[in-house]
Amino acid sequence: MMDRREMMLVIGAGPCGLSHAKALNAAGIAYEQVEADDEVGGNWYHGTYRTAHIISSRRTTEFTDFPMPASYPDFPSQQQMGEYYKLYADSFDLRPHIEFRAKVTGVRPRSDQRWDVELATGEQRVYKGVLVCNGHHWDKRFPSYPGEFSGEYIHSKDFKDPKQLEGKRVLVIGGGNSACDVVSEAARVSTSAHLSLRRGYWMTPKTVFGKPSIESPLMGLPIFVQRLMLRGLLRIVVGKYEDYGLPRPDHKIFEKHPTISTEIFHYLKHGRIKPRPNIERFESNTVHFNDGTSDEYDMIVAATGFYLSFPFLPSGLVPMINEQLAALYAGCVLPEYKHLYIIGTQQVRYGIGPLLTPGSRLVAKMIKMQDEMELPIGLVMKESGYKLPETHLVDPIAALRRMRMAGFFLRRLAKKELKLRKRLSPPTRTQWQLGSDPDMQVY
Ligand SMILES: Cc1cc2nc3c(=O)[nH]c(=O)nc-3n(C[C@H](O)[C@H](O)[C@H](O)COP(=O)(O)OP(=O)(O)OC[C@H]3O[C@@H](n4cnc5c(N)ncnc54)[C@H](O)[C@@H]3O)c2cc1C
Ligand SMILES: NC(=O)c1ccc[n+]([C@@H]2O[C@H](COP(=O)([O-])OP(=O)(O)OC[C@H]3O[C@@H](n4cnc5c(N)ncnc54)[C@H](OP(=O)(O)O)[C@@H]3O)[C@@H](O)[C@H]2O)c1
Repeated sequence: MMDRREMMLVIGAGPCGLSHAKALNAAGIAYEQVEADDEVGGNWYHGTYRTAHIISSRRTTEFTDFPMPASYPDFPSQQQMGEYYKLYADSFDLRPHIEFRAKVTGVRPRSDQRWDVELATGEQRVYKGVLVCNGHHWDKRFPSYPGEFSGEYIHSKDFKDPKQLEGKRVLVIGGGNSACDVVSEAARVSTSAHLSLRRGYWMTPKTVFGKPSIESPLMGLPIFVQRLMLRGLLRIVVGKYEDYGLPRPDHKIFEKHPTISTEIFHYLKHGRIKPRPNIERFESNTVHFNDGTSDEYDMIVAATGFYLSFPFLPSGLVPMINEQLAALYAGCVLPEYKHLYIIGTQQVRYGIGPLLTPGSRLVAKMIKMQDEMELPIGLVMKESGYKLPETHLVDPIAALRRMRMAGFFLRRLAKKELKLRKRLSPPTRTQWQLGSDPDMQVY
């Protein structure tokens, strides 16, 4: 077997891990892949509810080099998504490289520029580099309020089946896609379904003119034109949010990740969902809202999002600009380290497929280029004046445009590195301690 010191490790076999594994394979880069669970597909295998259908459309979620089966609808189900990723792994013969039930509990930089990796079994390995594709929709973010709620209090991540909501008085917190999905499920099966919003959101129906709204031909136009036209369109298709009892959005369209739901409008108009304002406090099973009203509930579902989390990396190794944004050059590398690629931390405005295929190929190119460099490619980017991202939200059309130019910029980076070598030496390495925990939660 090849020495792992010359190999890359891909952590995770969700959509990102699979796509990167395929790109490494195609580029002839030696790698191994580990997956904590017993199957590929990540969130679409173990992380979404039984009744989930994607909000991004099939066309904007499938990999560009592997279309979804022709029989799939515009918005495939959780089960169809799971099958699709299995099909992808089988078609490109990725399984032989994947070790299932292999949980990484520690990744630490070594003084020889390589990476120590520890598995939950206690096994220690050394790799040339690591691609972190561990997914970022699992580390639950709960809101906090004064008082204590005596009913059932779960996160949207713990919602797996509508049966959990049956016959209960349910309050869902949040204005994102999880909140709209869960409260719509509650509208069908619960005694009552309330939705607590701390602001107004640009909620958009799933289809416009019979097509997924996310596939709008407006994409690609200047952002102010998109905003103007979308506002007009929403006025016609939805009307005023206030007419549904929803607060007016307090931000511009696309300043937040889009909330896409048709059902929310349907059930609001049928009186099956009742909007409520922000929560002031809990008192036993009563929730007091900040407009002075209150109600009793059996269950609260906090659909309040997730933290970016890399529990197996030393704390602080990936600096955070804010809770949702990691300080990574080109969205994936650090200036201090060679061959550490942190993948998928940003939030694409539509599905991930069309960006993942070219993005993975680009990472493979960066790995080959890094092999030729003495300095970390992230440091060369920093010294060349590359900027850190200012937001975790990605405009897919702009990102694709940048990717098309990337070959040219990579060649320039290679030249720049030759010059920088003369005046810079590789950064000295912090000695990180690993607090490796075999029971560490990773998804
Ligand atoms: C309810 C819901 C609906 C969504 N709908 C959409 C949608 O419509 N369109 C869309 O584009 N996106 C959607 N998403 C986002 C979704 O997370 C992505 O589509 C996709 O799953 C991200 O792929 P990933 O590979 O980065 O992460 P994941 O799918 O989370 O995969 C990560 C994998 O890494 C493994 N792993 C993690 N840590 C370790 C470790 N330490 N050791 C070994 N293995 C590890 C995990 O077991 C997992 O299999 C949705 C998310 C949720 C929660
Ligand atoms: N069917 C689907 O395809 C589907 C379903 C679910 C999720 N998803 C995807 O999964 C990802 C995660 O979505 P998500 O909805 O779980 O998380 P999210 O997009 O981060 O949304 C979290 C929501 O909770 C609100 N919130 C956060 N803290 C709050 C607090 N303290 N009090 C009140 N509200 C609070 C946020 O409002 P603020 O804006 O005010 O912070 C936001 O509306 C997204 O990519 C999403 O598209 C897709």
